[in-house]
Amino acid sequence: MTRKIQDIWDSKWVTNVGDQHKLLENRLVEYLKVPYLSLFNNGTIALITACRALRLTGEVITTPFTFPATPHVLTWNNVKPIFCDIDPVTLNIDAAKIESMITPNTTAILGVHVFGTPCDVLEIQRIADRYGLRVVYDAAHAFGVEIDGVGIGEYGDISMFSFHGTKLFHTAEGGALSCKDPNMKQRIDYLKNFGIKNEEEVVMPGINGKMNEIQAALGLLVLDIVESEMSKRKVLTEVYKSALDGVEGLRVNADASGAKKNHQYFTVRINEESFGCSRDEAHAHLREHNVFPRKYFYPLCSNYQCYKYLPSSSPANLPVAEAASKEILCLPLYGELTETDIKDICEILLDARKKHK
Ligand SMILES: Cc1ncc(COP(=O)(O)O)c(C=O)c1O
Repeated sequence: MTRKIQDIWDSKWVTNVGDQHKLLENRLVEYLKVPYLSLFNNGTIALITACRALRLTGEVITTPFTFPATPHVLTWNNVKPIFCDIDPVTLNIDAAKIESMITPNTTAILGVHVFGTPCDVLEIQRIADRYGLRVVYDAAHAFGVEIDGVGIGEYGDISMFSFHGTKLFHTAEGGALSCKDPNMKQRIDYLKNFGIKNEEEVVMPGINGKMNEIQAALGLLVLDIVESEMSKRKVLTEVYKSALDGVEGLRVNADASGAKKNHQYFTVRINEESFGCSRDEAHAHLREHNVFPRKYFYPLCSNYQCYKYLPSSSPANLPVAEAASKEILCLPLYGELTETDIKDICEILLDARKKHK
């Protein structure tokens, strides 16, 4: 990194599509197997820009089982999020329930590939085509995921990747949009740079979404180690699975058939009755033992004060999501963990049952 910073220092070019930016954009097009990609300063600004690039208005159907940024980007575009229930296995928007939520005001479907498991992309596209809707994906968790050899960012009109420091591939803060159409790529690039076309023309009301050279340089370094990090996590995932598979009341995360996984997350679903303690009790017990799992995604976005009033936020409309948000626990997963660490974490998790019997 020191050498990279020296290069940037010497070049006197610190932002506005410098060498590092160009290099990273090209390398990611190849790595993610997408036709076009535009780098951003973070994933949220990227997704806000995607909605703007597609001129979304009215209502967009999305999932409540996600990070706050997903519905918030709609609100920032003056678009109303309409929450649709999720599939109990993939935890993604339930394609079978989308059609019943479409109204004359619907302009798009915004799916999230939760924990890197792909949405039902073919069925979602079929619905969108039938009703003339756009499809946007929040692929924040899905860096490097493929379906039968096709990059996840090839599906839908635009996909957003987050390169936040907590992600498998990161640029400290950062993100990207992928798309299939060169005109759309051009529009996105104008929008992320204030709408500036050249020194004398500003062609649309853009924003500042540009990734700087330091971020891009960091990305180039992380890209060199991302495969090895994924392999380590794959091995650790197997250790988790062999320790937890078959435990009554515990279900480990879904494996989509035909999908190349990125092993970014390892989740368990805890059924209080058959496991012997609740997700929240297991979470507290792990924390007491210095293990810090996350309750992703709790609370549901539909339960936030700013969205609770929406008719689609009613728990009766979202029974599967309501149950999942109370039962899913994301366990620690990163390449530097050892097999012994994982076995210890599993032992502590299973011990939580004794305390609450
Ligand atoms: C599903 C999801 N969407 C959006 C975001 C926002 O991305 P960023 O932090 O890069 O703005 C995140 C996480 O950070 C996320 O997990």
